Amino acid sequence: MDELLTRNFCIIAHVDHGKTTLSDRLLEYTNTISKRVLTAQHLDSMDLEKERGITIKSHPVTMMYRAKDGREYKLNLMDTPGHVDFSYEVSRSLAACEGAVLLIDAAQGVEAQTVANAHLAFSQQLKVIPVINKIDLPSANLELCTKQLEDILTIPAEEAILASGKSGIGIEDILEAVVARVPPPRWREYAQTRILVFDSLYDAYRGCIAYVRVFSGSIKANDMMLLMSTNQKAEVKEVGTFTPKMEKCAVLHAGDVGYVVSSIKDPSEVKTGDTITIASKPAQEMLPGYKEVRPMVFCGLYPLESDDYEKLKAGLGRLQLNDAAFVYSSESSLALGFGFRCGFLGLLHMEIIQERIRREHDVEIISTYPSVIYKIVKQGGEVLEVDNPVNFPDPGTIIETLEPTITASIILPNDSMGDILALIMEKRGVCEHTDTLDMNRVMLRCVLPLNEILVDFNDRLKSITHGYGSMDYELGAYKADDLVKMDIMINGDPVDAFSCIVHRSKAEAKGRQLCEKLAEIIPPQMFKVAIQAAIGGKVIARDNVKEMRKDVTSKCYGGDISRKRKLLDKQKEGKKKMKMIGKVNIPPDAFIKVLKSG
Ligand code: GTP
Repeated sequence: MDELLTRNFCIIAHVDHGKTTLSDRLLEYTNTISKRVLTAQHLDSMDLEKERGITIKSHPVTMMYRAKDGREYKLNLMDTPGHVDFSYEVSRSLAACEGAVLLIDAAQGVEAQTVANAHLAFSQQLKVIPVINKIDLPSANLELCTKQLEDILTIPAEEAILASGKSGIGIEDILEAVVARVPPPRWREYAQTRILVFDSLYDAYRGCIAYVRVFSGSIKANDMMLLMSTNQKAEVKEVGTFTPKMEKCAVLHAGDVGYVVSSIKDPSEVKTGDTITIASKPAQEMLPGYKEVRPMVFCGLYPLESDDYEKLKAGLGRLQLNDAAFVYSSESSLALGFGFRCGFLGLLHMEIIQERIRREHDVEIISTYPSVIYKIVKQGGEVLEVDNPVNFPDPGTIIETLEPTITASIILPNDSMGDILALIMEKRGVCEHTDTLDMNRVMLRCVLPLNEILVDFNDRLKSITHGYGSMDYELGAYKADDLVKMDIMINGDPVDAFSCIVHRSKAEAKGRQLCEKLAEIIPPQMFKVAIQAAIGGKVIARDNVKEMRKDVTSKCYGGDISRKRKLLDKQKEGKKKMKMIGKVNIPPDAFIKVLKSG
């Protein structure tokens, strides 16, 4: 087929602006999938995705479309994840395209991820087609949306297409715009084969399947391919396209989107963003934009029942096969037993993995407090990267502590401004720039420590703005600040699961809160037990567990010694199940209760 009749495009939008619904309509209109087979939201294959309404993995699909000019076009559509945690995946999906359909919910208008995604598309030199979606809604405000397009995104209002994925309005207009406005495949003239890996999937039988966009040259079964980031060679077993199910074909040409199955079994060797070339005639330069993705957020995951350890291990292993951005290694904790240290791209990524472990692998788990990667400069100039408080060095040896920051763009209604600025300050952030978007909304650009947005920032933003605020962020530089490791000690012994790295100004409040909670949850003990929060051995907060001698034999009047012994034995057995921290007996679920209460 003439490669000039191919169009590669993606749909980008803020979460919930209707990407999946619109993609389904396009598939239906082009008869790629008949209406009967098309269950609602066909492209979201994972159950969890359906339930949460979040697209996690990008699913490409090839459609054939006879345009009004009488010619038949091959349209390759990428469905991209909308959430910030997956922005690298979004950027690679965009790199595989020449155009982007930018959806804007007619009732919500431009939101933070609309702006972020549009800028990503502009930076990849994609042709952006603005679509104002959900115009069937009574609350649709077309005038506001077109004005925002011009003011915020500098896209001329007359380029906008009005549509509704739900009622099927504007579908043909969108397809015609894709054909007319999106340019044919770029970089075809490059002398050697260059193929972008924009995603991958693990299949138990076939090994690792790379999702690819061929830029120049071609690839077919039996070729010897070369992965350029690692210089690794592998034999191509099969190539094919997405219809949307995988369908084998003889060869993938320049401009095509499809998949490559090779002799590589280990999914970590096929990296998103890598360039595949042909080993016998290799390309000289990789396609631009390759980046090693690194997990940014870490926490410990432990099985609630220690018998589930192996099950958890197997589950994590299986999840990692389809998600190279997720990493784990074993660790053990005095309080929680054996478990795993896990690394994620961000908070949402962490939540999704935890949920999938619970659901798909049927293991109840508890996670420790999330942490970021701190850099610690020691005397002599050595720089440690610490993602686990356990590895925080002795304060006496530290010269400087640095933490990662983010630059956040927050869009919010004017009347929430005061409360949001207070929240940013509380989270040690600095607001650098304020832009008025329209009569009712402003956009703030601020720098915040990544650690501070991990726990409840987004929830509080949503609650302060009654759901109207939205945020997007990109990682920024490391900044020096006064960071310390805080230990929680029970009767003088530190409890590892509660150690955390905090800003000195926040240590006391956090320490007090944890001590109070533990004192409340740990049952009365035979002797007085102190619970203390300490920095480098110096106590900054304390509380006490109540003291009580529980005489289990007191109910036994008279001298029945055998009954007394039985009761004492029973109490002993009960004690065995408890955790021993120093001399203190603690029910195993006490730590879990504290961790769960946030
Ligand atoms: P993410 O994958 O989470 O980014 O969502 P999405 O952008 O794929 O949105 P999705 O298609 O899942 O739609 C989100 C919600 O909006 C669903 O409840 C849809 O039923 C609804 N919706 C989508 N398109 C339309 C539309 O044209 N009109 C109306 N009224 N509702 C729509």
